[in-house]
Amino acid sequence: MAAGATVLERRGPLRGTLRVPGDKSISHRALILAALADGSSEIVGLSHGDDVARTRAIVAALGAGVRGAGDTVLVAGGALHEAAAALDVGNSGTGIRLLAGVCAGLPYRSVLHGDASVARRPMDRVTAPLRAMGARIEGRDDGRFAPLTIRGGNLRAIDYAPPVASAQVKSAVLLAGLHAAGTTVVREQIPTRAHTEEMLRERGVQVETVRGRDGATVVTLTPGPLSPGRIVVPGDPSQAAFWICAAAAIPGSDLTVENLYLGPERTGFLPVLERMGADLAIDPAAGRIRVRGGSLRGTVVTGPELPDLIDEVPALAVAAALAVEGELDVQGAAELRTKESDRIDTVAALICSLGGTVETAPDRLVVHAGAPLRGGVVQSHGDHRIAMAGAVAALAVRGSAPVRIEDWDCVSTSYPGFLADLDAVTG
Ligand code: S3P
Repeated sequence: MAAGATVLERRGPLRGTLRVPGDKSISHRALILAALADGSSEIVGLSHGDDVARTRAIVAALGAGVRGAGDTVLVAGGALHEAAAALDVGNSGTGIRLLAGVCAGLPYRSVLHGDASVARRPMDRVTAPLRAMGARIEGRDDGRFAPLTIRGGNLRAIDYAPPVASAQVKSAVLLAGLHAAGTTVVREQIPTRAHTEEMLRERGVQVETVRGRDGATVVTLTPGPLSPGRIVVPGDPSQAAFWICAAAAIPGSDLTVENLYLGPERTGFLPVLERMGADLAIDPAAGRIRVRGGSLRGTVVTGPELPDLIDEVPALAVAAALAVEGELDVQGAAELRTKESDRIDTVAALICSLGGTVETAPDRLVVHAGAPLRGGVVQSHGDHRIAMAGAVAALAVRGSAPVRIEDWDCVSTSYPGFLADLDAVTG
């Protein structure tokens, strides 16, 4: 991806009504499930980002017919075949891990690879269970890292408790389980986003989720055909989080975000913001959140809370740096180091480069409120969420110096229209 910087001046409060782009997690799954279903599916509201475009190209390379521009796409699924070339997921960890599950189930040789960030991210979390199901997988460092060469097919079901709380791992195992002999079980001590299960059920596959008294879940999948149909992708709460955190932290803001997915395990940042003192009016049935700006304070986020807000930490951290008192103490957060960048270090560097105060530990990020943020240079490290968090910080810096965000172009992996939406809510 080409580099490029953006320079943002301080702006006033955020106002108006915004619809954010289609949810990225749901968009990947919509394309994959439509490709696996026998027949034609229509997907409406697809994410515009490059990550999802890569998944679209990959299901096409595997034999799905994909037509349509913009956010409405028609997929003719069911007749998949071996791809003629290696499959490039770009920057997408979700893409490579979910597609590893798909390719494990298909009786072909598939090669999955991505950019330098994907090549650094741990893949053993998916290659281990997929190998246990019978897939033959090679990768760098014995399958710990991409590129991955997968010879799939002839799988047997497993009963699996992932060692990390990860929806990507759960989903890879369930997607492979669609083509395995027997009933696949995934046990989660801390439940993660449930899109794969929800969407498989909507496509007629028997997937049961039983939640114990301690909150742990057992997901059971019985293989069966997927029915094609219409999939409407709701707005992405992880993208909305940048606007909601900014509006909550900037006095005078009054912003409504509409058409959001507000289902389980995606909205943990909202109660955290409320503990920080944010004024939120949440209408789950309508998928709408109204946020009014005020003075925030710190709070503690514990490890078990993290899967529900794993992608929202950069935005929450900036809100905490703009808060008036206390500290945001994110504990049990080692998973943040495995994202598009090491987000404990890159969030800390972002806030420190604008004059804020942060402490880090191997599994902890503490952002202190009260040190006014000022203009400066932010390194995105090629991580879209660090770049967008930098833009949120820029809205509220003190003084006249702007914020320059290096390697801004990475934002196109998830939210190409971010700057247009920024203008819309601050214009
Ligand atoms: C995702 C799951 C999360 C999240 C990622 C999207 C998904 O990753 O960080 O952006 O769509 O399943 P992990 O499952 O690795 O935590």
